[in-house]
Amino acid sequence: MLKVNKLNKSFGENKVLNDISFELKSGEIGVLLGKSGTGKTTILRCINGLEEFDRGEITVDDISIKNVKDINKIRNKTGMVFQNFNLFPHMSVLENIIQAPISVAKISKEEAVNTAKKLLKLVDLEDKINSYPFELSGGQKQRVAIARACALTPKVLCFDEPTSALDAESIKKVINIINELKNKKIAILIITHDIGFANEIGDKIINI
Ligand SMILES: Nc1ncnc2c1ncn2[C@@H]1O[C@H](COP(=O)(O)OP(=O)(O)OP(=O)(O)O)[C@@H](O)[C@H]1O
Ligand SMILES: [Mg+2]
Repeated sequence: MLKVNKLNKSFGENKVLNDISFELKSGEIGVLLGKSGTGKTTILRCINGLEEFDRGEITVDDISIKNVKDINKIRNKTGMVFQNFNLFPHMSVLENIIQAPISVAKISKEEAVNTAKKLLKLVDLEDKINSYPFELSGGQKQRVAIARACALTPKVLCFDEPTSALDAESIKKVINIINELKNKKIAILIITHDIGFANEIGDKIINI
C-alpha cells in the first residue's frame, strides 16, 4: 500500500505541494488529475526518492519516512515509469531490465535474466530482448520501461502520463498490462490528462 500524508514541497518561493494526502491499497489504481504545473510529477518524484520534500510522510508497505534521507527504507519497494521512458540508450532491452536487480538489489545474473524474460513476456516483447532502445517504437519503449520498473517487484508503481505518446492500440496494451500488475496486488499511481483513460482504469481519482 501507499500512503502520502500532508506532503509539502517548495522550489524556492514556489510552493508546489501544500498538504497533499491520499492513500492507495494494494491492487488499487489511483489516478492523479490536475492542471499543468500543479505538482503531479513532483509527487511521483518524491515517492521515488528523486526529489526532497519539506514536510509530510510517505508510507509504503507499512514503512514510513518523513525525510528523503530515509528513502533507502522504501526505495526497493517503489518503481517509476517516466514520461520519456528514460531507458539507458547504450544498453539492450535485457540489460536495461537486469541492471538494477544486479547492481542495486545484488540478485544473481541468472535470476535477473529469468525474471527479465518473464517480464518481457508480460509486456509482449520477448522478441526484442536483444534490441537497443533506438530500434524500438514509442509504445515498445514504454513497455520496456514498465518491465524495467517491475524488475525489483515493487509494491508501488508510478506512471507519469503513460498514454500521452501512444496510439489507441498501444494504449489498450498498456491498460492490459496495468490490470495484470493490479492483479499482482501492486498499488498503482498514474498521472494522466486523458479523462477517458482515467475513468477506464482508475479505482480512485485524486485531484491535485
Ligand atoms: N527542479 C525544479 N526546480 C524548480 N522548479 C521546479 C522543479 N521541478 C518542478 N518545478 C516546478 O514545480 C511545479 C510543478 O511541476 P511538476 O512537473 O510537478 O508539474 P506537473 O503537475 O507534473 O505538470 P504537467 O502536467 O505539465 O506535467 C512547476 O511550477 C515547476 O516549474
Ligand atoms: Mg508532469
